[in-house]
Amino acid sequence: MSEALDYLAKVRPEAMGHYLKFLKESARHLDPKTRWLISVVTKVVTGSERGLKQYLPRAIEAGATPNEILDAILCAFPAAGLTKVLGAVDVLLSMDLPEFRAENLGRPAGWHRIGALSEFPEERPAWRTVEDRTVIVVRRNGSAAVYDDHCPHRKTKIPLQQNEAGNIVCPGHHWEFDPRSGACVKGGNRPMSRLPIKVEADALFAEW
Ligand code: FES
Repeated sequence: MSEALDYLAKVRPEAMGHYLKFLKESARHLDPKTRWLISVVTKVVTGSERGLKQYLPRAIEAGATPNEILDAILCAFPAAGLTKVLGAVDVLLSMDLPEFRAENLGRPAGWHRIGALSEFPEERPAWRTVEDRTVIVVRRNGSAAVYDDHCPHRKTKIPLQQNEAGNIVCPGHHWEFDPRSGACVKGGNRPMSRLPIKVEADALFAEW
C-alpha cells in the first residue's frame, strides 16, 4: 500500500475501507505474480511513476523474471501508447537493477566470488561490489548471509550505513533491517533479498 493510501486508511477508515476490501477481493483468484504483473500494466496505462516504483518490486519478489516484467510493460501498449511504455521503461532503468541490463536479460544464474570469508567482520555488514552488482555481506558462525543491496520496498539502493542498534537503515522511508537475519524490524514488512551462497576453502560465492 502506498503511504498516501495508508494515511487515508488511518484517518478516513469509513471512506477507504470499502475500497481496500474491493482491492483485496478483486484479486482473490489470482496468484501473487499474476496479480502484481497486472498491477504493473495498470500503472503503465495510468502513467504513474510512483505506482510503478511500488508494484515493480512486488512483481519481482513474487518471482516475475525481468523478461516477464518487460512483456507486461509491452502488453500495456494498446491502451497506453508508446510514450507511456517508454516512460515506464525509463522508470525501470532509473532503478538500476542489474538483472534488467540488456546484457543480463535471460542470462542463467551463476556463482560469483565475493571474497575471502575470513576477511569479513563477524556479524557486521560489509558492502562489496563484484562485477555489476553490490551486495551486503554479513559473516556469522563460519558462514555468511549475502543480501542484494536494493531495498525490498522500492528497490532503491541501500547505502552503507547502520544506526546505533546496528540495524541497516534504508534512507528512502526508514525501513530498518536486522543484518543477521535480513528481517525488517521497523517501518516495513518485507525482508532484504538474500542470495544463495556457498563457501569453498574460505572463498565466499553468491549466486545471481
Ligand atoms: S525505499 Fe522505502 S524504505 Fe527503502
